[in-house]
Amino acid sequence: MTTFAKPDVRPANSNFSSGPCTKRPGWTLEALADAPLGRSHRAKIGKARLERAIELTRDVLRVPADWRIGIVPASDTGAVEMALWSLLGERGVDMVAWESFGSGWVTDVVKQLKLADARKIEAGYGELPDLDQIDFSRDVVFTWNGTTSGVRVPNADFIPADREGLTICDATSAAFAQPLDFSKLDVVTFSWQKVLGGEAAHGMLILSPRAVERLESYTPAWPLPKIFRLTKGGKLIEGIFKGETINTPSMLCVEDYIDALEWAVSVGGLDGLVQRADANFAVIDAFVAKSPWLGHLAVEPSTRSNTSVCLSIVDPDIVALDKEAQAAFAKSMVSLLDKEGVAYDIGHYRDAPPGLRIWAGATVETTDLERLMPWLDWAFTTQKAALKAAA
Ligand SMILES: Cc1ncc(COP(=O)(O)O)c(C=O)c1O
Repeated sequence: MTTFAKPDVRPANSNFSSGPCTKRPGWTLEALADAPLGRSHRAKIGKARLERAIELTRDVLRVPADWRIGIVPASDTGAVEMALWSLLGERGVDMVAWESFGSGWVTDVVKQLKLADARKIEAGYGELPDLDQIDFSRDVVFTWNGTTSGVRVPNADFIPADREGLTICDATSAAFAQPLDFSKLDVVTFSWQKVLGGEAAHGMLILSPRAVERLESYTPAWPLPKIFRLTKGGKLIEGIFKGETINTPSMLCVEDYIDALEWAVSVGGLDGLVQRADANFAVIDAFVAKSPWLGHLAVEPSTRSNTSVCLSIVDPDIVALDKEAQAAFAKSMVSLLDKEGVAYDIGHYRDAPPGLRIWAGATVETTDLERLMPWLDWAFTTQKAALKAAA
């Protein structure tokens, strides 16, 4: 088998997974030493940490003062499903999806909630649907950054300020890397394990005053388990948005989230985080531009994610293979890079077109991506030669 010279340098940190994402630079378990472990989360000390997590979230994400911020169970999925089950059904809904996670919310609404008046506005991997088709007199559910296709909405200009319906936005791989215009968003959800490299299992649910008004004026026709209940006797349970979580959170994870938020402040807050992700994306983008074998899955440049960067192998010999063989080729590159210890978890998502997916969120160091790029060339050349030799 032909061997090719390996690049001289390796990334200092080879964690490029799209979730859980790499911890912030310099993170060690020591950072969590002050966590109030073994104490009740309802004790003063625990409650104060939960409140601190909410306060810092508001500061860093610039959430308006009258938007509620709650820590809820079951990660981003928990937060989204809580919103869908609690808010939808009052009017028709437009479900907007362009990759796997968005499609999952469509399935929830159409097959589980079985809403009679649900319209699907969809596009395939790499594209955004026609956003002009959305009717904002209805409720609208969409994913800001499609993690499995690397396609995001460029901004919130497509959402009218004077809409009648609610906008419910899964922002889990966008929050802290892409500015979110809260005035256009009634529900925003995310989990800690993405752009801030926090821990999974806890979700964030941010509600606009209009979303609260809906919760207090509308009761869904279906039963809600305790884990989803945001109201009591027709009134919002305000405690949820002051750190009185519905059930027991992990105070270790809360401490880790606070640590990540404090790091976020130290790198310049939201602007600093966005700049870090943009600089990371720029490294990959420049490499794609000079690599004839590699392309972006996201067709339109303004929709290309600066977090979950999805790449296609566009070499004509690889494109000529059937889908299964293309996926096997991409996987062989991913395994080789993993074996070399230079990149972990950069395979495409299981339902997405074959290729690579490299996380470029704020916790990734730009120098590590710069060091990774020559390894992609090396892995491609090595595996292509192996393919030719096997033919
Ligand atoms: C867009 C999107 N939505 C939802 C999820 C599910 O998140 P979690 O596992 O935190 O519930 C993910 C995870 O990758 C995601 O990228």
